[in-house]
Amino acid sequence: MSIKVHIKNNHASPDSFPSTPESEPVFTISTEKYEESASRYAEIAKQLDVFVDWDTDHFNASMKTAEVLLTWNLPTENLAGIAPNLKWIHIIGAGVEHLCPMDWVPDGVTITNNKGAHADKAGEYALMAVLMLHNKMPKIMTNQHDRVWNSLFSTPIKGKTVGIIGVGSIGGGAATQLSKLPVHIIGVSRHGRPHDSVDQMVSIDHLDEVLPKMDYIFVSTPATPETIGLFNRQRLQGLKPGAGIINVGRGSVMDYTALADLLVSGHLSGAVIDVFDREPLPADSPLWSAPNFVVTPHVSADDGDNYIPITLDLFFRNMARYIGGEELINIVRPELGY
Ligand code: OXD
Repeated sequence: MSIKVHIKNNHASPDSFPSTPESEPVFTISTEKYEESASRYAEIAKQLDVFVDWDTDHFNASMKTAEVLLTWNLPTENLAGIAPNLKWIHIIGAGVEHLCPMDWVPDGVTITNNKGAHADKAGEYALMAVLMLHNKMPKIMTNQHDRVWNSLFSTPIKGKTVGIIGVGSIGGGAATQLSKLPVHIIGVSRHGRPHDSVDQMVSIDHLDEVLPKMDYIFVSTPATPETIGLFNRQRLQGLKPGAGIINVGRGSVMDYTALADLLVSGHLSGAVIDVFDREPLPADSPLWSAPNFVVTPHVSADDGDNYIPITLDLFFRNMARYIGGEELINIVRPELGY
């Protein structure tokens, strides 16, 4: 008996995922990409019966017999009725906030996510963004746009303090890369568990004690009820004067209007922001022209050439565990929302 796997790809649409035509191929599990990865896991792959689909084209018909679903999103209503054999849903992203609250998950169904797939790329982005902030690149880019030649010198970064808010897989990847610099790294996470590349780890309830020590802040938190609005106006105002901030988690964690105000007033020196509540960022958003505010289009953490091979490696390794009756890795905890 083979295990029926339904793969649901999404055509690009704004405010969904993928949100742009150019990102669609990056996140599509085509039959070719599937076969290529499957050839590396032949013993497992021969036990699977895979159906590659788009959007909800054949969702109800195929899910009648599917045991496993591989996707970013899904119609959640009456899932138990539509997919009576379903046991496991693997989400091909890190964030699962679009599926929360997870009160729709049928009994006996496990959700996993792509934790780990983003660490290498996000780590390099963190290194780049911290060095950009330290070298005043947001201001220099604003000056270039305004045709202003202003000799903004910088210093070697030695002795600065970098904070990482959310030391999961992405924050951990950032710590690994940033530890190559002669900086002091403070990590903040829900639990405060130590990380090899972090000099000082604290739990989230100590956030306000450590924030004023940070010269540069890298935010990589998931969107959960606890993180929404974490960097509100008051917290941003409390940051060290001249600090710079990076956000690769979700837009909902930060008040960007307040951030733009603090960049204009000079309280904060620069921002490198990759995630927004609405993506693509609407053409009329004032953030496009906020001074010292660098917009990157949600590209910080996904390997543009290998996102799907990395995802499928994770999936096949987990499928081996599934077949062997072992606990899956990357289980999402519905009560935490990540
Ligand atoms: C994700 C992301 O959630 O890239 O995977 O933002």
